[in-house]
Amino acid sequence: MSITSFNGRQPHGAQPIQPKVTTTTIHEKKLRHEPITCLTAYDYATARLVDQAGIDMILVGDSLAQVVLGYDNTLPVTMEEMLHHTRAVRRAVRSAMVIADMPFGAYHEDEKDGVHNALRFVKEAGAEAVKLEGGAQRVGLVKRVLDAEVPVMGHIGLTPQSLHKMGGYKVQGKDFSGIERLVKDAVALDKAGVFSIVLEGVPREVAAMITREVSAPTIGIGAGPECDGQVLVFHDLVNLTFHEPAKFVRRYGDAAALFTNAVQQFKADVETRMYPSDAESYHLPKDTKVELEAILRRKEMKAYSR
Ligand code: KIV
Repeated sequence: MSITSFNGRQPHGAQPIQPKVTTTTIHEKKLRHEPITCLTAYDYATARLVDQAGIDMILVGDSLAQVVLGYDNTLPVTMEEMLHHTRAVRRAVRSAMVIADMPFGAYHEDEKDGVHNALRFVKEAGAEAVKLEGGAQRVGLVKRVLDAEVPVMGHIGLTPQSLHKMGGYKVQGKDFSGIERLVKDAVALDKAGVFSIVLEGVPREVAAMITREVSAPTIGIGAGPECDGQVLVFHDLVNLTFHEPAKFVRRYGDAAALFTNAVQQFKADVETRMYPSDAESYHLPKDTKVELEAILRRKEMKAYSR
């Protein structure tokens, strides 16, 4: 039995929530000029909420390394960690397309390893596509992964796995040689057959040009409003990242305040014996309670008479 119900139904014949999103849905949205939505998720609870809100694509991003595992950058996260979290997301999602991010080192040594690891995401974790960073230099790998029947999302511009090569997190494509490189990369990935391209940390004007140039939908993050869709890291969206957000991040909620308040109230209630109340406690059946009270009374009288 496959993990995903591809007819869009919930297990056990329950009614569909929303139609299943596929690569075709994403492509058709570009043709209809309908904005595509994408968010990251790394666990069952948040993936379930994101899916139920009707987001088109859920990316199990390697940003997992930073926002969930507490690393300084995305480089240390492993295939096993990515698989573990992709499985949790898979169990939650009914409608959105689930994309697994290939971590640093999973496709950099040779293409055979890259194909093998892409297949692991589909076979062992139920992903429906993989994302990998890089442009023209990844064309050979993209073709081989597609030959293995796994859809690929490209990712160019500010690619966090190239942190050391870029000399920091820097907006890419700000001069003519940078623009030319980005356009070439986007066109190469598009020709190779990726189903979408993430444009990260790219000037708005350049992202708009690329979006017009390629048939694959562009999904922007810090790349302006002309992209075919937008992606954000879930933890940025809800203020759970513990640092000043990047310029492009819009905070839509304050989970840090919500969680802190709940934890502080719990602490205060326990310390003042306000939690748990009688209504929040389990009780003995009436007969057992009466019997127990009688036993305790007899015990007390015995002790008193000694
Ligand atoms: O890992 C990630 O979250 C990403 C998105 C920011 C595109 O790659």
